[in-house]
Amino acid sequence: MTKENTKESVTLTNNSTGKTLELPLLSGSVGPKVMDIRALYGDMDIFTYDPGYTSTGSCRSAITYIDGDAGVLLHRGYPINQLAEHGDYLEVAYAILKGELPNSAQKAKFVNDVTRHSMVHEQINFFFRGFRRDSHPMAVLCGVVGAMAAFYHDSIDINDPHHRMVASYRLIAKMPTVVAWTYKYAMGQPFIYPKNNLGYAENFLHMMFATPCEEYKVSPVLARAMDRILILHADHEQNASTSTVRLAGSSGANPFACIAAGIASLWGPAHGGANEAVLAMLHEIGSKERIPEFIARAKDKNDPFRLMGFGHRVYKNYDPRATILQKTGPDVLTELGVQDEPLLQLAIELERIALSDPYFVERKLFPNVDFYSGIIFRAMGIPTSMFTSLFALARTVGWIAQWNEMLTDPEQKIGRPRQLYTGSPQREYVPLDKRG
Ligand code: CMC
Repeated sequence: MTKENTKESVTLTNNSTGKTLELPLLSGSVGPKVMDIRALYGDMDIFTYDPGYTSTGSCRSAITYIDGDAGVLLHRGYPINQLAEHGDYLEVAYAILKGELPNSAQKAKFVNDVTRHSMVHEQINFFFRGFRRDSHPMAVLCGVVGAMAAFYHDSIDINDPHHRMVASYRLIAKMPTVVAWTYKYAMGQPFIYPKNNLGYAENFLHMMFATPCEEYKVSPVLARAMDRILILHADHEQNASTSTVRLAGSSGANPFACIAAGIASLWGPAHGGANEAVLAMLHEIGSKERIPEFIARAKDKNDPFRLMGFGHRVYKNYDPRATILQKTGPDVLTELGVQDEPLLQLAIELERIALSDPYFVERKLFPNVDFYSGIIFRAMGIPTSMFTSLFALARTVGWIAQWNEMLTDPEQKIGRPRQLYTGSPQREYVPLDKRG
């Protein structure tokens, strides 16, 4: 799909040596042009400096496209609102992984394959028991997913396409089980095994909330809401955790290790950990009257406080995922018989006040996906500490699809950024007795 435009280029001139270099501009299928700087160091002996990669494209990818100014998110070309409204998680996962939405036979086979791999090796059950019961679920998740390389070492040959696909299916299929078990373990309740007659999101909710003592029927409204939330988190191009997965994978590391690395990166409050942080913030604000105080703190450069769930590196408009979640929230609350959820009212008011404040308007800071997801999770009875694990569960397909794409990219190389060195130039070693 890439249209290589060899005619258009940017000429770079070093104004102290006068040396020039013509750098070709590449065109993707949509989106801004990309300057190919691969010849830069070799020809000019110069590196680029771009902390946080604000202007750097790290790879070619055909999976997800974001137009941050327009608030557009496409997976394999399909707008996120259409996928969330008409699709289900497993067909979106199929499209993300394989490039096209499945036809009915492909979908039936994919659903069957994923469903039949949702049970984990029984020894993982015992592996869990090494963790403290009060561990953070993300800490347990990092450990268990990393350990899957030990339990499923028959699918870690990254050069074998069959191994890669088996590992990918295993991760997508087993993640709900592992995430639900981190919750059960923290609760001191028995692990609930997956049931093959349940849908993906339904099965996850069943493993979270069922106990062996009585029948547990998952509400179809809640299963649908959970499925939709999973779709909204399924992939998001080269964000911090996905780039972490790619970087870890670029050295040839196995898929389970790479996904564990992605989980670790996701955990931070500037990334997936923001959904947990939003709830903590809303609790801290407590009432509508205190909103101005927190808005003032968010604007104060001497205060590290930021409005959690606000702002995004790429979106300078509404995050389309937040818009869908804002509409999903009331459905969930109605199903649960909650007439008035004070935290949702508080969040809506906080959004209203922030979006009418010049500080947020000028910086184009809008609510992101994490702003409303936590309120919905909480209403479903999911504890705050589990929120980021749910994000990881949903994002697993995006991570593994990007990992597969990278490994089959002929231009793929080990990721190895350079630096602007600011330390001491070379100097002589001083023996200990001569140091001041
Ligand atoms: N509250 C107050 N000010 C903010 C916020 C915020 N949430 N976000 C950005 N700003 C200000 C920031 O201080 C800066 O101001 P100035 O230009 O005066 O120095 C300006 O807006 C640009 O911010 P930045 O930090 O340079 O932007 P970034 O692209 O590096 O950071 C971000 C993006 C998401 C890390 C940041 O907006 C943030 O920390 N948001 C809160 C955490 C959050 O909600 N994270 C979830 C992101 S979406 C889902 C995900 O990735 O997992």
